[in-house]
Amino acid sequence: MQTSTQTDRSPSFAQGSVAGRLLEWYDGHARGLPWRSPPGTPPPDPYRVWLSEVMLQQTTVMAVKPYFTRFTERWPTVADLAAADEAAVMAAWAGLGYYSRARNLIACARVVAQAGGFPDTEEALRALPGLGAYTAAAVAAIAFGRPAVVVDANVERVVARLFAITDPLPRARPVIRERAAAITPATRAGDFAQAMMDLGATICTSRNPRCLLCPLRAGCLADAQGIAATLPVKAAKAPKPQRTGHAWWIERDGAVWLVTRPGKGMLGGMRALPDDGWAARADGDGQPPFAGEWRSGGVVRHSFTHFDLDLQLMLCAADDFGHQLAANADGAFWPIDQIDQAGLPTVFAKAAQLALAER
Ligand code: ADE
Repeated sequence: MQTSTQTDRSPSFAQGSVAGRLLEWYDGHARGLPWRSPPGTPPPDPYRVWLSEVMLQQTTVMAVKPYFTRFTERWPTVADLAAADEAAVMAAWAGLGYYSRARNLIACARVVAQAGGFPDTEEALRALPGLGAYTAAAVAAIAFGRPAVVVDANVERVVARLFAITDPLPRARPVIRERAAAITPATRAGDFAQAMMDLGATICTSRNPRCLLCPLRAGCLADAQGIAATLPVKAAKAPKPQRTGHAWWIERDGAVWLVTRPGKGMLGGMRALPDDGWAARADGDGQPPFAGEWRSGGVVRHSFTHFDLDLQLMLCAADDFGHQLAANADGAFWPIDQIDQAGLPTVFAKAAQLALAER
């Protein structure tokens, strides 16, 4: 007699109990993270939830932890952050990437502090500066217990597998969202959202999922079909454009010339080495700020979301040109032995490392 794998391993629990099983697992396996309350306990301060969620966009838990600790020690409340010097916040953010998030962070803190606190609905949260659909849902669920549907990349993967959604991303997103909504419980929504994230991060991983340990295995359609590791299917991405640019390391008396980038645009408002105007859509013009004796300091390779950059570093002593630079109000000489406190975004921090190795 022919047996069907599909029949033998068909999902054996109803949708309603996905949440029950997952929460039971979370009660025993939740990751202890500095922005969390333990499972089943009252929610954490909305400020800490919001800050962590903004930091965690596009970044890993490991990378975020030290930033979160530093921020909350220095600015323990949203009012403290609202009152902070913008340049200090940008510098403290340096290295986390996606710097428009830091600018929005300050703008949002100011609106919230002015209003006397965070709103507690998904809709009102969505109206705050920098809060997209994901962050608004995450804060509504985690800080206020609202049954919001929280879908990040981890949740997307778990849901695509649970329901064997083989349509490629991004086309599958509306269906994934619908399915996620169907399994989101009315109570403990914050724990549920974080349980889905933890499951995605520790068991339902992109590569080599640990299905034998999964609390949802009995109901997982992808596991039943033996296709869990292949999901979610992703549409082929267009290759990233390759850009080139120059950065200028101008040194005088143990200090290097740093500029503050214009508020809008790439790495806006961040301290940086001067450069030749490379951007997401254009190569730099290669023109140095003055006709000095430039020598190559090597090339920095850096990958941004929408393009890869080869940044040619050029080194020069400022001796005879310091007066020209000093006339530039947007820059200053910064002590080289304190360069790690300049708050340089990663691409320029890499360039500084190269320059220091070259000296
Ligand atoms: N990624 C995004 N938000 C998270 C959270 N609250 N816990 C763990 N990982 C996350």
